[in-house]
Amino acid sequence: MRKIVVWLLMACFLTTFTFGCVSDATITEKCAKNDSIEFQGEEPVDKLYRANDYIAKHADTVNGKYRMSYHVMPQIGWCNDPNGFCFFGGKTHLFYQYNPYSASWDTMHWGHVSSYDMVKWKYEPVALAPDCVYDEKGCFSGSAIVKDNEMYLMYTGVDAKNRQLQCLAVSKDGLKFEKVARNPVINEKMLGTGITSSDFRDPYVFKRGEYYYCLIGTKTNGFGNIALYRSKTLLGWEFVGNLINNSDPAAPNYYRLNGVYECPSFAEIDNRQILICSPQFLPQNGTEFQNIHSVIYMVGELDCANGRFVYDRFREIDGGFDFYAAQTTLLPDGRTVMTAWLQMWDRTLPTQADGWAGAMILPRELSYKNGRLYQSPVREIEKYRKNRVEAKNLALTENGVIVDGIKGDCVELDVEIEVKTAAKTGVKVFKGDLHETLIYYDAASETVVLDRSRSGVRINGAEAVKRFRSVAVKPENGKIRFRIFLDNTSCEVFVNGGYATLTANVYADKTDEGICFFAENGSATLFRAIKYDIIV
Ligand code: FRU
Repeated sequence: MRKIVVWLLMACFLTTFTFGCVSDATITEKCAKNDSIEFQGEEPVDKLYRANDYIAKHADTVNGKYRMSYHVMPQIGWCNDPNGFCFFGGKTHLFYQYNPYSASWDTMHWGHVSSYDMVKWKYEPVALAPDCVYDEKGCFSGSAIVKDNEMYLMYTGVDAKNRQLQCLAVSKDGLKFEKVARNPVINEKMLGTGITSSDFRDPYVFKRGEYYYCLIGTKTNGFGNIALYRSKTLLGWEFVGNLINNSDPAAPNYYRLNGVYECPSFAEIDNRQILICSPQFLPQNGTEFQNIHSVIYMVGELDCANGRFVYDRFREIDGGFDFYAAQTTLLPDGRTVMTAWLQMWDRTLPTQADGWAGAMILPRELSYKNGRLYQSPVREIEKYRKNRVEAKNLALTENGVIVDGIKGDCVELDVEIEVKTAAKTGVKVFKGDLHETLIYYDAASETVVLDRSRSGVRINGAEAVKRFRSVAVKPENGKIRFRIFLDNTSCEVFVNGGYATLTANVYADKTDEGICFFAENGSATLFRAIKYDIIV
């Protein structure tokens, strides 16, 4: 009974939150005084209650300076990977690795938001707290699946011995989750040969035929791998195999990764089987994998009987600075949509000083054509376009061409440039007297470059190349096209209709709203540019 009262109270005050709003003090007070909550000194005993209570009481202490308007961020505290991305009860649900109590990574909870259009999100009560013996050191990443009208979350529990164990929680209403009695449903005795329980995480569950399958990021015999398990019920699981070949150099797709393939995800897109994952410590290869950790996709054939994935090669999904732990879900209308953490490990995070850290990308629709994965922002974003301004046929200069009405830090820009003889041509955004972020085509290297060397607050990281990212792209019919989404501190670039993308955080000043178009060492023409304000 106590739990029911707690849940009703939590649900009632948390649903009063929307982005940018503060809690209702009277409701918070009522909850704090409620006799049915057990306290140990000042602290509520129930960890889920405690997390929600903390958020309600402290969310308004967060400094709003670097907050975004159409990206998911934690109300307060730290978030990393997206988890449990799914469609349930008429809405899209998105969970995330969450520590409400500080803007640093710590014992993980699952935060939760939901949305009817994947642009405007509503905060829901925290879904999972580390409150059982098998997850007391954290509820790590995982995924969701709908079975018999119930939403199941499959996640990695970390116990006091730092063992990573796979667990399930179930919900009828998509808000309140009950951990199943049989947890952990994949325990340390069920590890495939060579797998260690300290690297066994991030289950991605999906259904094929009569079985549920689950992909789990591992280290097997010391090298990264992805384990495949199967179950008819979601409760009893059996090991099927290791998807990646890292022991036989003569066999196809041999690769030895000195890290874990974190956060695996699987989708069938345009008749292709696509495995997505986030390998740690993938060495740089040309313009690819310039971050310490990367997100890749492999197109291949999943052999569910033997537990193998035979693929041709892998490619990086996003060539920017801040993109990790991507996860996909299939919507009822047939679209496969991807979300990801709009951050990267091993970097300084300027917003920590403001009481929060971490965000999610604008979700992307995936398609497969011309032998590669294409990405485009969810079409629902177009509903939020306002104040259209268009420019056409302007000769570009080295100093940059400014167009009346084209500016802003919360905008969509659709830019097409005829490259002609220019050595470099593109756009400067978040531009002020001291700062600018450059997105341009570099003809010599046939790459698109994102340059944040003069963007604003310096971000430091462990990687060799710190201020630039680039992706190999060529103009199409002489033109390069950038679709750019800015949201105060984020910049997402879709090149040539989603052939390549570059995602980054940018911490400029509030007054850095300028946008201009430029060409260096040769001629280029702004064929067309359209700007919309995005007002959510
Ligand atoms: C990836 C990751 C996952 C893990 C989670 C912990 O970013 O390291 O492998 O489950 O973060 O927060």
